[in-house]
Amino acid sequence: MSNSILVCAKLSKIYFDAEAKIQVLKNINLTVNTGELIAIVGNSGSGKSTLLHLLGGLDKPTSGDVMIAGKNINKLSEKEKCRLRNEYLGFVYQFHHLLPEFTALENVGMPLLIRGVQPDIISEKAAHLLDLVGLKNRITHKMSELSGGERQRVAIARALIADPLCVLADEPTGNLDPHNAEKVLQLFIYLQQSLKTSVIMVTHDLTIANRAERVLMLQEGQLLQ
Ligand SMILES: Nc1ncnc2c1ncn2[C@@H]1O[C@H](COP(=O)(O)OP(=O)(O)OP(=O)(O)O)[C@@H](O)[C@H]1O
Ligand SMILES: [Mg+2]
Repeated sequence: MSNSILVCAKLSKIYFDAEAKIQVLKNINLTVNTGELIAIVGNSGSGKSTLLHLLGGLDKPTSGDVMIAGKNINKLSEKEKCRLRNEYLGFVYQFHHLLPEFTALENVGMPLLIRGVQPDIISEKAAHLLDLVGLKNRITHKMSELSGGERQRVAIARALIADPLCVLADEPTGNLDPHNAEKVLQLFIYLQQSLKTSVIMVTHDLTIANRAERVLMLQEGQLLQ
């Protein structure tokens, strides 16, 4: 069995609009090994979110392939892709995408609810994760009642609840103070070491990036070491 959880080969993305064609990613190759912590840095607009979305199967590349746990995700049906994402990946969106009318606990538990896990098991696990990200006293708050950094931590807990093999996190510490950013990083490192979870995080914070085993820079559509 292969030691890599996620592989992309010759991945390109071109956005077409009325006047222009923007090539955001040019023939990107990346292999993410099991239990590896990778940081991706790059200027605003360099294509970091685009790359993460392609790696997570949330958007289609113009060309190239993404393999997750040995499966080519662009050869799967939408339904199979959703299942693979739910089973293997945890995604922290740059703009969170949490359900505003639901509580922190319900948002975090959603990926397990989709899998049909028993509600009391979900609640217990969701509460534990919320505690780990420092939100023990916010579990019954609705998203609309939480601050930006608190929402971000709810999004991180949600990405982790189904024990993903790989976490794709877009600016997971972007809204956080150094203390809470460190807490999130410690949680990633803990998962990496105890469960061999791979983590790919996009960050603008070089102190955070330098804690990763590999730092890659996205520049002019290419991923540089
Ligand atoms: N749906 C789209 N249609 C056209 N252009 C797009 C689309 N999505 C993104 N772009 C363009 O592609 C480029 C890369 O966007 P992307 O969101 O990946 O950047 P980023 O590196 O994540 O930036 P930031 O650090 O600001 O989040 C940008 O120039 C953006 O304007
Ligand atoms: Mg982005």
